[in-house]
Amino acid sequence: MDRIIRARGLHFPGATDDSMVFYKDAVLCVKDGKIVEFDQAEKLQAQGLDLSRCEHHPDQVLMPGFIDPHIHFPQLDVVASYGTRLLEWLETYTFPAERRFSDQHFAETAADEFCNALLAAGTTTAMAYASSHPTSVEALFQAARARSMRLLTGKVLMDQNAPDGVRDAMPEAIRESERLLETWHGVDRLGYVITPRFAGTSTPEQLEAAGELFSRYPDTWVQTHLSETVEEIAWTAEIHPHAKHYFDIYERVGLIGPRAMMGHCIHLSDEEVNRMSETGTAAVFCPSSNLFLGSGLMPLDRLEAAEIPVGLASDVGGGPQMCLLHTMADAYRVLQLQQRPLSAREAFFRITKGNARVLQLEGEIGDFRTGSAADFVLLDPTRSREVERRVAISQTIDEALFAMMILGDARLILETTVLGEPLYQAGALKASEFEASNG
Ligand code: GUN
Ligand code: ZN
Repeated sequence: MDRIIRARGLHFPGATDDSMVFYKDAVLCVKDGKIVEFDQAEKLQAQGLDLSRCEHHPDQVLMPGFIDPHIHFPQLDVVASYGTRLLEWLETYTFPAERRFSDQHFAETAADEFCNALLAAGTTTAMAYASSHPTSVEALFQAARARSMRLLTGKVLMDQNAPDGVRDAMPEAIRESERLLETWHGVDRLGYVITPRFAGTSTPEQLEAAGELFSRYPDTWVQTHLSETVEEIAWTAEIHPHAKHYFDIYERVGLIGPRAMMGHCIHLSDEEVNRMSETGTAAVFCPSSNLFLGSGLMPLDRLEAAEIPVGLASDVGGGPQMCLLHTMADAYRVLQLQQRPLSAREAFFRITKGNARVLQLEGEIGDFRTGSAADFVLLDPTRSREVERRVAISQTIDEALFAMMILGDARLILETTVLGEPLYQAGALKASEFEASNG
């Protein structure tokens, strides 16, 4: 064995949160980057395991690494931008920030920072938008590859309604996408995502060519935005007058299906919900972004009643924080406003196994079943005094997990491991010292 870790242990081996397995005293065995065994310490000891050989974290919770299915790599510096809704926010803050990623050195430095920030937030896999510049895609793939991360990204396609410096042009935009795809898709743990930003910034010609590219490479993914704000929907209908509705713009060119991730999906018509359901297209719920940009309340139950797969994501920089603990807490609030409480069990399922399923990566990441990738986090409630207090008085694991979800943040991440290698370690500071050093 390469590593044997003893801690509190949590994962979801099955297809729903009903499958939750929690052991107060668990052991995880790792060999060659894979999970070999996850079980109760007592049981493994009875089978001859020498517990004195374990890395022992008795108060910490070991769980699969978080999976973020919608995040923007070039928006690390866009977070916390004041006072606007989506379309103005894009013009005022986002496009100027993304313009800088044409510079190779800038993009490479940012990619290292982005991957390190993901790991510090407990995220081991992301599906990320790059910028419209091929340099940004190369930089992010290189940074993720250097860390052996399971990372999916692609060049943003946007050939209209965007300023000089971020707008691309046909047919080069598709040619570049195909070149990047051919170079990177399937290399180590990297995957290519065909990435038309949204219908507002792509001509019908570009969307059609993107759909044609997807039809030739059906094992890639698609990511785009759908029905995020009411202003955006009205504007999109003017630009694409021949479409029956917003989803139809993507459907008529084949940018749909189980490997297509539609960010937001807040204001869908019944017809759009039906078409998403019938085509198996996935939605991604980004509650922190939706609150921050004032976009609306995603009707999760309505989409799930139609059996649409729904991911849960940070959407940095529309969402201000990378750590999915924040996203879960905001999801709780957004759903509370719809009289639909979100349990910690469901929320932790969603950011691990649930997102793996939505991204079609089940069996590879997201749980501790034998053979899954050894991508995991150690959550330490004692790194925040308020979390430590609330967890200490919790009567059940559900109560303790709920306290971590509502009160927690990236401070709780003690270690993030990729393929068995600890790539982020918070260090040996005690919580009190940590808080003092962080104000
Ligand atoms: N719609 C088109 N582009 C974006 C983006 O960068 N962020 C969000 N939240 N919505 C978008
Ligand atoms: Zn987004």
